Parts: sequence; structure tokens; C-alpha cells
Amino acid sequence: MKKKTLSVLGFAAAASMVFTMTAMADGNADKPLVWWNRQPSNSSTGELDMDALTWNDQTYYVGFDANQGAELQGQMIADYIEANLDTIDRNGDGIIGYVLAIGDIGHNDSIARTRGARKALGTGVEVDGEIDPSPAETNVDGSASVVQDGEIGGLTVRELASHEMKNASGATWDAATAGNTIGTWTASFGDQIDVIVSNNDGMGMAMFNAWSQAEGVPTFGYDANSDAVAAIADGYAGTISQHADVQAYLTLRVLRNALDGVDPDTGIGTADEAGNVLSEEDYYYDEDTRSYYALNLAVTADNYEDFLDSTVVYAPVANQLSEDSSPVKNVWLDIYNASDNFLSSTYQPLLENYDDLLNLNVEYIGGDGQTESNITNRLGNPDQYDAYAINMVKTDNAASYTALLQ
Ligand code: BGC
Ligand code: CA
Repeated sequence: MKKKTLSVLGFAAAASMVFTMTAMADGNADKPLVWWNRQPSNSSTGELDMDALTWNDQTYYVGFDANQGAELQGQMIADYIEANLDTIDRNGDGIIGYVLAIGDIGHNDSIARTRGARKALGTGVEVDGEIDPSPAETNVDGSASVVQDGEIGGLTVRELASHEMKNASGATWDAATAGNTIGTWTASFGDQIDVIVSNNDGMGMAMFNAWSQAEGVPTFGYDANSDAVAAIADGYAGTISQHADVQAYLTLRVLRNALDGVDPDTGIGTADEAGNVLSEEDYYYDEDTRSYYALNLAVTADNYEDFLDSTVVYAPVANQLSEDSSPVKNVWLDIYNASDNFLSSTYQPLLENYDDLLNLNVEYIGGDGQTESNITNRLGNPDQYDAYAINMVKTDNAASYTALLQ
């Protein structure tokens, strides 16, 4: 493209033109970029999209360790069942029946959680060495092929039903769909449901409010949103904190460091001037995939009081940066679905707390959760920003964003 320009213009004009074009065009492609919450990857195979993850040398992903969290969730459910063996089987049919709300069959976080629950409960069926995460739909008679009956403490464990909670317009992790689905399930086999498992709290709370709280049926979610943690006092059985306070910090911190041209570990593994630093218990970094992963914690009746407000900044990284070394910069950041419970009630409030501490002027764009263009249309003027933070609708769609920065 630059060569073409040269050939049609006189030398002096061409030289200055090339200079401006380079400054503009190369500019956006070279700016810091962080993918967050939805890791660029193939939504059918889970394979990471390395082109997106290495888009430029200031590109990162920030998420959490999906497998470690999924194992924790599975373990929490199995532990609960073991501790309550004499009361768990409500109808006394010798089967511990559970239902599972699946968030998004093309999202690696959701896939990991489905696998984690099935693994801990012994209901998973392996395909090519990995547990099949497909929805079983209705399996009251135990005949589905994607799951099998497990056993805990001499009782059979059966996944009575599981379903991807996607609404008619395509929004996934949809709480309202979960609330309706539990109504359908309980109308036909409610007395057989002994446990409810959900890939997240948004869906878990919808089922808790619609049915399981009144019935006293243990319900497990994921995310440790404030409303779910508060509900533990009212019988919600447990959730997992994906350490959103660490993730939100990292999401903005990696941009801050790139903008300041400092060591990428500043304020992360190495204390910055203000004293911000994380520890190995909070996160790890994988250099090959340029990914930061926060570590998860189980939240149950034993410790929920420490997690009641999911929007407070994490104390070890709550110190204000000085504007001398970290002057105000502009960041474009989108949230793929403005009505996602976790992202809107936990993650965004955290980002808004950290943006002040990190001197970042962040423009928050909320998507509709269904179409990438609803968001990309609002990145009309990328030149206005110093850095970008992207949360995709579909994990396959990284190129629809990077194309705008070219
Ligand atoms: C959260 C879900 C949320 C999803 C959005 C997951 O990590 O657990 O609650 O809906 O991210 O991408
Ligand atoms: Ca039963």
C-alpha cells in the first residue's frame, strides 16, 4: 500500500505522505491490546487462536484457570453430597439426581465446568481422552450416551437433564432461560431433582429463585457474584470465585505497563512504586500463550462472609499510581453482553474502580451478547484510543476486531 502511494506522487509529497500514513496506520496495530474473559480460540475444538494472542508484542489475554476452577466446583459438589448422604436423596429412590445448566457450548470456561462437574460426580463419558461436555438434554431414565451414571457413597448419581441456556435471539449463559427451564424440568420430574449445578451464578440464582430455595434443594454456581454469595445465608449451596478482582486489575494493568513502556511484570509479579503486587496464589502467567490466569477459590457456608462484596478492589493491588510516571491514557473496552450477570455486576464495577487507580480513562461499550457487529460498529474511530480491551461474543471472532486496527 505504501509503495502504491509512492508511485503516483512526486517524491517530496510521497515522503511526507508515507510518514503520516505510517504514523496513523501502524499506530493502531501497534497499540497495546488485551483480550479478556473470552480467550481467542476455536469454539468447536477449543484450539487457541495464536494469531490473535500474538497480534502485536503488547498483546495479552487475561482470564482465569478454567480447569482448576472447574475441578474446585466439581469437588465442592461431591464433598457436599458426601457430607449429606443421609438426606440428599429426597424421594428415596437410591438415585442422587442432578440437573445441569450449561452456559455456552462454544466457550472454554463453560466446557471446563461441565467437564469438572461430570468428572467429580462420575457421570462423564470420555471421548478421545476428554470428558464429553455435550448437553444430555433429558436423561431421567439414564439412557443418554453423552453421560453415564456415577456412584457416591453407595448411591447412584444421575444427570437427569442438562441444557445450553441460550435464548431465542442467541444470547448464551442466559439466566431467564435457566429460570424457565427449571420450571419445565420440575413440572415433569421435580421430585427426582436432589441437586442443581450451574455453569454460573446468573443461571444458578435464576433456578434458586424460581424453585430450589423454596424446595431446599442445594444449588451450586460459579462467579461469586454478590447476590449469589449473599444467598448462601439463605441456602444457596456454594459458588466459585474466579478472582475477578485480580482479573479486572490485570486486564487494565497489562495495558498500563505497555503504555508506560515499563517491564510487563510491574505491579504484577514485581511491586511497583506504589506497592502494588500480586502473589503466586493469585495468578500465573503463561508466556507461550501470553495469557494471565487468575486462580479460583471455593466459596461455601464456611467462608462466604469474606466474599459478600464482589466489587471491592483487591487490597494488595489497590494503591493509586502517580500521574507523573503513569499519565492519563484513553482505553476502549467492550463487554460482549451488557446484561451478563457476572460481567455487569462484578467485573465492570471492579474495572471502574481500578481505572481510577491506574489513571486510565476507559470508555465502556456494552454489547447485546449476540452480534459482534453491534460492538465493532462502535469502534469507529480507533485512533482516539491509546489501547484496547476486547471481550468477544464468539471466541472465533478476534479478526473482526484486529481488522479495524490495521
Ligand atoms: C463467567 C460467566 C459469564 C461468562 C461471560 C464466565 O467466565 O463465569 O458467568 O457469563 O464468563 O463470558
Ligand atoms: Ca433421588
